[in-house]
Amino acid sequence: MALTDFDLVLFGGSGDLAMRKLLPAMYARDIANDLPPTARIICVGRHEWSQEEFLATVESTSKPHIKAAINDKGWSRFTQRIVYASLNATDASTYAPLVEALRADDKLTRVYYLATPPHLFAQICDNLKEAGLATPNSRVVLEKPLGRDLESAKQINAEVGKVFAESQIYRIDHYLGKETVQNLLALRFGNILFEPLWRREWISDVQITIAEKIGVGNRMGYYDTSGALRDMLQNHLLQLLCIVAMEPPTSIAPDAVRDAKLQVLRSLKRFTPTTLAQNIVRGQYRSGHVDGKAVPSYRDEPDAPQQSSTETFVAIKAEIDTWRWAGVPFYLRTGKRMADSLAEIVVRFKQIPHSIFNQPTSSFQPNSLVIRLQPDEGLSMNLMAKTPGDSMRLKQAELELDFREQFKTPRMDAYERLLLDVLRGQLTLFMRGDELEAAWEWVEPILDHWEEDDSVPIPYSAGTWGPAAASALIGRDGLQWREEALPED
Ligand code: BG6
Repeated sequence: MALTDFDLVLFGGSGDLAMRKLLPAMYARDIANDLPPTARIICVGRHEWSQEEFLATVESTSKPHIKAAINDKGWSRFTQRIVYASLNATDASTYAPLVEALRADDKLTRVYYLATPPHLFAQICDNLKEAGLATPNSRVVLEKPLGRDLESAKQINAEVGKVFAESQIYRIDHYLGKETVQNLLALRFGNILFEPLWRREWISDVQITIAEKIGVGNRMGYYDTSGALRDMLQNHLLQLLCIVAMEPPTSIAPDAVRDAKLQVLRSLKRFTPTTLAQNIVRGQYRSGHVDGKAVPSYRDEPDAPQQSSTETFVAIKAEIDTWRWAGVPFYLRTGKRMADSLAEIVVRFKQIPHSIFNQPTSSFQPNSLVIRLQPDEGLSMNLMAKTPGDSMRLKQAELELDFREQFKTPRMDAYERLLLDVLRGQLTLFMRGDELEAAWEWVEPILDHWEEDDSVPIPYSAGTWGPAAASALIGRDGLQWREEALPED
């Protein structure tokens, strides 16, 4: 669908996200000829830069992050779209440069992308209203973190909701923009094969892992007040869980999908102080080696508080109280400075009920479906197959679907897709307010417990898969994390 003309306003327009992700994403769509000729990107920032100074910053800071082909003509066309507006986002009396930069045409789409800390969301929305800029053709995009607990999330929803209708609000979770996450929808609802098996009778457990080799780096100011639970689990991992576990929505329409996800979030079994201690492991990395390189401990990263008890790893056994999923554990895990960088979902099926071969049932690897989000995008289905030769011996074999091999078309980064969706007015891949609150509601008892409890995260060496307690968590159910179950090379 072709885009109609737009003014895209980036608050935090000289910040890290704009430079690393948003401007490169817009450039990629521009060079692919997706943007209308007169569409504009208005970058808002506090620095009193001239247009030339800002463009020089874009050239030095943002351009190196662009993966799409760059040529002089394309770059010049792109930079001509950019307008820099210097103002103080928290002070409505300074909004004149933005008012001037925006085109007063209500047929244009107008998008305000708030790539700012969340405590500014309400104020910016109020100021937009006061400056007469919160028009019916406007949309507002909220970047994570969307609050730091249930109360702050509710407050953001309420304050932003005073200025914009829910249908104008786009809450971003960039994981939903990833190619394979959408492929998961295709897999589940574009095939007849899986749906009959997608339930407690046939599935033994589900593992969702997002592991990163990177540490906290220069984001300590934000990260130490956040931690892995708020930074990754409350949003990215829960969103993946929703897509795996939701009931078939009636269509791909925003509210059909979001209602289905909401039902999952509301069905998550609540933790009590006792179940919490048994089902959650939190860790913090110590020094170690990643890719053969020595890396420091979390507490020795620049600006880290020496006694920080912020978790850089979390593993949770979650359960969903519905007919479909009762008794099926969902193991969620994420961490920084892990042994590998990957994001994957592993759906493990139950063991066969009886072996007709001269092999005990226990020698059969249960079938599993692995959905790989990154680094490579693909699916593999593990099946038992006969090994060649005279005897009837069965062994695990892999059915592999590599999306890059299968579809050679160029890939879109998650931000490219999500920005296009905002500009098109397509809300399916964005969280609704009640979904956001339901996710915080489930996480809240964990946060409260950690706050009251004087235990601290378990140390783990950088370059490993986290604390041994995470293996014990899943081991108690007689299971293993995928990498632990893989045969040795
Ligand atoms: C962000 C987190 O939301 O997601 C970061 O704030 C994390 O801490 C990042 O590194 C991971 O995203 P991706 O797309 O690189 O897996």
